[in-house]
Order: sequence, then structure tokens, then C-alpha cells
Amino acid sequence: MSVMRIGHVNLRVMDVEAARHHYENVLGLIPTHQDASGNVYLKGWDEWDKYSVVLSQSDRAGMNHVAYKVEHDADLDVLKRRIADYGVEVDEVPPGYLECCGRALRFQLPSGHQMYLYAETEYVGKAVGTTNPAPWPDGLKGCGAHWLDHVLLMCELNPEQGINKVAKSTAFVREVLDFRLVEQVMVGPDQSIQAATWLARTTTPHDIAFVGGPRMGFHHCAFFLDEWGDVLKVADVMAKHHVKIDVTPQRHGITRGYTIYFFDPSGNRNETFAGLGYLTQPDMPVITWTEDQLARGIFYHSGELNEAFTSVYT
Ligand SMILES: [Fe+2]
Repeated sequence: MSVMRIGHVNLRVMDVEAARHHYENVLGLIPTHQDASGNVYLKGWDEWDKYSVVLSQSDRAGMNHVAYKVEHDADLDVLKRRIADYGVEVDEVPPGYLECCGRALRFQLPSGHQMYLYAETEYVGKAVGTTNPAPWPDGLKGCGAHWLDHVLLMCELNPEQGINKVAKSTAFVREVLDFRLVEQVMVGPDQSIQAATWLARTTTPHDIAFVGGPRMGFHHCAFFLDEWGDVLKVADVMAKHHVKIDVTPQRHGITRGYTIYFFDPSGNRNETFAGLGYLTQPDMPVITWTEDQLARGIFYHSGELNEAFTSVYT
């Protein structure tokens, strides 16, 4: 067994208290911890590990790292060898280096984003418990997001200079971490340039996505909701809290998810993503979107990409 699922994302924020208010009262995450350096840790009510979001004070927005959880501690030894054999520098950090986690592997994706893999972390349980659980807990705030679902990372893409870090990162996570390529966007002459990819380790359409852009960065992290009605309600929550909405409720062609995009107070893009999309399996054929249908793939209803969606990211 290799990577099991996304574990947490560590976001840089310019005002930790404002960010905590956003992730707690707008997203509806539950604060579970604050460390000695002032980093704030939160989890979704439907998550059982101690945290899935870490907010770190910084003078600029963006993502410090993303971490994925593997099933067994011994998997880390296997993966460390595979990462090193692929030619990627990897080191091991001791238990506690990642707050409340066991030992972890640290390396950079070919895109330059920092990733950790860990097997052990503190268990706190779902808000509804494990004995005769209610379908949802009382007292949910804001969106009442269930869990951190995925991240989308912007990777440098400059075909004229022969730079395609989407393709390089995609190949790395497929060949070394056993992610399955689920959907891709192919552009350029003969549709030969892999400009965006969606990959999974679970049975959802994606646990990570890479999209090409002028520079590397953080596009968004997404939180799971049940259904379309929840996405509409979330838009109400955004308006109520005067949160800047990037894209009003829509359906994605790619992944088929129902979506709304908005920004945290530091300008990091968030998404709430509803619906299963579809079930992915190891033998499912890869879905390809062509350049002329790219906008339809992203926003299925309007078929139009707003300029800021692909150019504004942290
Ligand atoms: Fe997303």
C-alpha cells in the first residue's frame, strides 16, 4: 500500500486570527490545537485525525506544504527508496517535527512544491463518534465542511522553453507514489502537451491536481460537502460573511463536481466541492479534455474561464 489519502495542508496566512475566523466560522472547521509557534490546527467534523489544515503566520500567502498519509509506517521505508531511486532528494524528519505526527518523509515534487508523507498522527475521532452516530453533529458553523478533499497546485508550463512541470509532477506521483491518472487536459500541436492533470489514490476523481501556469504556486484547497443544495447554501454563507467569491455555484466538467470558489482573508483560494463526481477504479480509462473544450471542462455551464481563475493564485 502506498499513499492512502490527503492528510493536511499547511497554508501561509498574513493574519492568523483573521484566518482562524474564516476557516472556523465560514468553512466550519473545528480548531483542535495551537502549537508553541502560534500555528493553528483545524479539522472537519467528519475527519478523525487531529487536523487537516494548519495556518501559519507569514508575510505572504500560499502553501508551505501538503502532506499525504500512508497506511503503514513501513510504507515510508519503501517510498523513501522509491523516491530516492527516481532521483528526487528525500529526507526523513523525526516524530513530532510535523506536530502530532510520527516520522515523515520530506521532498519536493518536480513542480517545486514541498510534500510530506507520514503514517501516524494523533486520533481524535469524528464529531459524531463511532457508536450509533448521528448523520451530522449539532452546532456546525458556516459551510460545515466534512473534510479536506484535495489540493490543486500550479506548475510552471512553458512549452516554448521545453518546460512542463505538470507532466513531470504527474509522472512522479504516478510512477513513485502510485497515483492513478484520472483526467487530463491536452493542448498544443497534436494535443501533445499535458497541461493539467487530476490524479487519485482514493476512489474519488482526484486527491491532487496539477495545472500549468507561468509560475509554480497554490491554486486552491477544497473541502467536501454532500450535495448541490449544500453548495447553494455555502454561497449564502459567503455572502453573509462578506467573503470574496471567485466563482459562483457551478458544475465542473472535469470530475463532475459541484463547486464554488472563494478566498480566505489572505487571498488563498478555497473551494467547496460537493458530490461524488464518479467512482474511480484502477482499470478506469483516462479521460482526456481537448484544448478547445478546456473552459467547458472547468466550468461546464458557462463554458467560459474568467481570466483571474487561471492567473490569480498564491
Ligand atoms: Fe478543486
